[in-house]
Amino acid sequence: MDEARIKEALGKIEDPVDNNTLKANDAIRHIGVEDDKVTLLIGMRDPDDQKAKQKLRRELASVIKRELGFKGVRVEFEPLKKQGSVLERDVRYIGIASGKGGVGKSTVAANLALALQRIGKRVGIIDADIYGSNIPVILDMPIELPGADENERIRPFEKHGIEVSSTEFFIKEDKPVMWRGPMLSKMLNHFFYDIGWSEDVEYLIVDLPPGTGDVAIDIQKYVPSCKMVIVTTPHPSASSVALKAGLAARELDHDILGVVENMSYLDHGDERLKIFGEGGGDAVAQKLGVDVLQRIPVGQPKSGHHSLFGAEEEIGVLYLGLANKLIKSL
Ligand SMILES: Nc1ncnc2c1ncn2[C@@H]1O[C@H](COP(=O)(O)OP(=O)(O)OP(=O)(O)O)[C@@H](O)[C@H]1O
Ligand SMILES: [Mg+2]
Repeated sequence: MDEARIKEALGKIEDPVDNNTLKANDAIRHIGVEDDKVTLLIGMRDPDDQKAKQKLRRELASVIKRELGFKGVRVEFEPLKKQGSVLERDVRYIGIASGKGGVGKSTVAANLALALQRIGKRVGIIDADIYGSNIPVILDMPIELPGADENERIRPFEKHGIEVSSTEFFIKEDKPVMWRGPMLSKMLNHFFYDIGWSEDVEYLIVDLPPGTGDVAIDIQKYVPSCKMVIVTTPHPSASSVALKAGLAARELDHDILGVVENMSYLDHGDERLKIFGEGGGDAVAQKLGVDVLQRIPVGQPKSGHHSLFGAEEEIGVLYLGLANKLIKSL
């Protein structure tokens, strides 16, 4: 694989500020290869040191072009890992993935967070869906630039007792996000190193973008212990893609906690209608060797809220059941 070869070759280059190799500093944050071009995100001890940055840039370019024979290279830098980040604490990470878009990932992520909170857990949500983040909409949060705390960390917003950080808070309003590779990684860096999550946060739920690509791979670098919940609908068009996401997660050594089949059925009088077909959840679970943790029917919250279910509503109870199962298996 190109990435591994590039990583190996770049690893021996030294950061001019501390003279550690990039490998020793674990500074190679992202490698993207497209045709004959390479994009890199490199952690630097002091990205404000322009001279050091130039030197490093030259050395990176020399290895990529002369040694490895690529035609072009684009490099971005970011500061190396800060001390005291949430990654150094005992937090459980639950990644919500689906492969296909629109199957209810964010709805499940938000209601699961709410259920955990109702059980008495301290929860945060990372809305890492760079292409269509909508956790703030689901939780009815205004889009504002976050402030900083006394340690110069970004303060997460809080809603319904849940701490929230989202790409939405950092991007310009209504701009389609077309960031790729390094930018995605930069955003994740924000979530894990720059956000001042409360000391007592026990669970961080990560709403992943659809697809099996960059973010799922990058998240591996930050949180190797991130466990996955795969969301699918009963329909084969969703479940076949969800399975791919599951297999990709597995390939990255993420544990898969199980499958949530969303929009599973619709209760209409005495009848249970399978309006989106059936079998998708079971198919994915079986192929991944895990259980279907919950089946969530099609439904609207009775409270009048557009997405969040009350604790006493049928679907709210199903989410409590899901939360309890996850707590047990973590
Ligand atoms: N069980 C359900 N019953 C009825 N509507 C649902 C259900 N789950 C989700 N929805 C609705 O389906 C739409 C898509 O849900 P959501 O945004 O959570 O999906 P997503 O997988 O996060 O999508 P995206 O890929 O865009 O991030 C929303 O309008 C949501 O309210
Ligand atoms: Mg979503």
